[in-house]
Amino acid sequence: MAILKLIGETGPPLSFNADPGANLLDVLTRNGIEIYAPCGGNGTCGKCRIRTRNQGIVLACQHTITGDEEIILPSALEASILEFQHNHTFKYPVNPGECTQLSESPYGVAIDIGTTTIVLYFFDFSRESLVYISSILNPQQKYGADVISRINHCIQDAGGLATLHSELIRAINHQIRRFLSEHGLEEKDIVKVTFTGNTTMLHFLLKEDARSIAFAPYQPGFTQEQHRTGAELELASHNHAFIKVLPSISGYVGADIVAGLAALKPEDQIKTYLFIDLGTNGELALVTPDRHLCCATAAGPAFEAANISCGMAAVKGAISGYTEKGYQTIADVPPLGLCGSGLMDVISVLLDAGSISPTGELEQDFVIAPAADSGSGEAIRLTPADVRELQLAKAAVAAGISILLKSAGIDAASVDAVYLAGGFGNYIKKESAIRTGLLDQSFFEKIFPIGNASGTGALVALKSADFDSRVNSVLEQMQYIELSSDPDFITEYAMNMSF
Ligand code: FES
Repeated sequence: MAILKLIGETGPPLSFNADPGANLLDVLTRNGIEIYAPCGGNGTCGKCRIRTRNQGIVLACQHTITGDEEIILPSALEASILEFQHNHTFKYPVNPGECTQLSESPYGVAIDIGTTTIVLYFFDFSRESLVYISSILNPQQKYGADVISRINHCIQDAGGLATLHSELIRAINHQIRRFLSEHGLEEKDIVKVTFTGNTTMLHFLLKEDARSIAFAPYQPGFTQEQHRTGAELELASHNHAFIKVLPSISGYVGADIVAGLAALKPEDQIKTYLFIDLGTNGELALVTPDRHLCCATAAGPAFEAANISCGMAAVKGAISGYTEKGYQTIADVPPLGLCGSGLMDVISVLLDAGSISPTGELEQDFVIAPAADSGSGEAIRLTPADVRELQLAKAAVAAGISILLKSAGIDAASVDAVYLAGGFGNYIKKESAIRTGLLDQSFFEKIFPIGNASGTGALVALKSADFDSRVNSVLEQMQYIELSSDPDFITEYAMNMSF
């Protein structure tokens, strides 16, 4: 008999017995634990994912219990994001192309390469089922938190590009090989791989020179869709596997935005919407019935808390929420640091209390969690420099939104929906986004977190070649605005600086 320990958002952990060999979704459902499973456990929707202590993210409907397991249940918010994603994603019949003839058990992998995190979705083409999702930290982080630091590494070190490329391939291959060995498969069974990510990451992936992205006019080496074979990219796959790298728009509006926008299916009544991806950079798009506009803001990694003194990614132990009553951490464990949403909350509370002035002055460090309470034994604090970091980032994003609205000739009130993509969007409180001035007050009722839109797009592209026409229509309609050469940007930036 195996023991399942369930850790939820609230209340003490629950434990119950389960037979080894039983299906996890069945066991959870039988014990009254509701997991969002819109495809009825067929493994096609990918929405029943939960986190296990030993194996990371698994699909409950595809997971067999083999022994004792600790399971972190999705929060109500995460469940609602998954539901939203499911209902607002274009659906196509599975039609991956001729590559499935390369193996009798053909599998594919959709990979979203973020500056901070890499997510891999493993898809079984025979059963038309998503079988596994893995998420790892980008191993290039040791060369810098943001794309500019990593490009600088390539400028300063002649072998830098080769190093960044091989770090990526090694990490991806490690995940693929782990999946193959756990599922009794061979490398030749991986017949298709799709990639999304920001433009710089995709240059590193293909070992293409990315240096021009760092300097005006920020032209990338390529933006068009790229094709390779498994052998050319030295992937742990069939030598002739079809490798597809989705297209980008510019040096700072990458395939992550193209894929996310193409996969997003807003409700019929939504005619005008903003798509905001606040990852290591801030990428923004505005879609109206007449214009499709996009831009990128040099927001820096403040929203992922990379340059914050006690900052950390939105993973277990991060303070992800804060009120005057105290903090909440991800997975409800003692705090280890502060992620982007926690940072926004703390600053909002201190603004309301008058401890941070409207111009952003904080007189001394504010202790969020004393050393005695923290998981690391060190106090978690907010410094005046942290406040400044967020202030610059939020001003850049708010100015970018203003420029998009002005260019489209509309005001904020005309926007029907604001879709927040990326991990930061999952946890951010609308109140804090508005209190800090990141988003306009009029957006309050219109904000929808949509999770990893880029990963969703990569998966749709893996499953179906029919998605190409959606991607092409995004590319054809989207007009890129280079903020650094927009005459109004500096004024808008300065006007959005105060809280
Ligand atoms: S319920 Fe759809 S993938 Fe598990």
